[in-house]
Amino acid sequence: MTTTLTIALSKGRILKETLPLLADADIRPSVDITNSRKLLFETNHPHIQLLVIRATDVPTYVAHGAADIGVAGKDVLLEHGSAGLYEPLDLNICRCRLMTCAMVGARLGNQRPRVATKFVNITRRYFSKQSRQVDIIKLYGAMELAPIMGLADQIVDIVDTGNTLRANGMEPLETIANISARMVVGGTAMKLKHARIQPVMDSLTAAVSQRQHNN
Ligand code: ATP
Ligand code: PRP
Repeated sequence: MTTTLTIALSKGRILKETLPLLADADIRPSVDITNSRKLLFETNHPHIQLLVIRATDVPTYVAHGAADIGVAGKDVLLEHGSAGLYEPLDLNICRCRLMTCAMVGARLGNQRPRVATKFVNITRRYFSKQSRQVDIIKLYGAMELAPIMGLADQIVDIVDTGNTLRANGMEPLETIANISARMVVGGTAMKLKHARIQPVMDSLTAAVSQRQHNN
């Protein structure tokens, strides 16, 4: 069996937590990923390679079969949609919540609140499910600035410790989803490379369980 298995990793915050988990599952890049400008890495397994790409691109690579497996936040997966993707394992890292937030004490009586977010699909679904009409303003980061500058009444963003909200005079309101990083597998890869994928899935599952057991 010579088929190469390609695993797409989200760079940034998730990568820092993914690499130790992969190491627990005995998958180690051949060089130090965090100190490299490369995007494609060999591992201690001749048939496994790692891609390091933007978090939002991971589902796209995997759904199109350009990578076989991916590691991405549930927020990114919900925003992208699940077409062509299996989500077999919660990796239990990068836990946080996706929430609506507003300035502390803000009166939200607005007929049609303006909501700033980078998660426009999730936000549209969330409010329309409740028959609440909102205007969604797409941003690419620093959502907390939008209500301060009068650009929006609310934001939809990731909340973990709540420190970013507090530092900007904001408070969390409603939880839209509990988030953690997930392993995803492409539909085609699941069929054609199942014999390669199963051992990776098994060792990652064991690594996640072991960590839960230790905590
Ligand atoms: P990009 O820079 O490509 O736009 P990003 O800024 O969303 O991506 P990160 O901030 O590294 O990238 O976040 C990656 C993922 O980590 C998110 O999709 C989410 O699942 C998770 N995450 C983000 N913020 C937190 C947080 N404060 N605590 C825990 N997990 C988080
Ligand atoms: C994320 C998120 C929030 C913050 C929440 O931003 O967008 O701003 O973390 O975490 P907290 O509740 O613990 O403060 P990040 O730090 O990843 O920066 P970014 O805006 O560049 O994505």
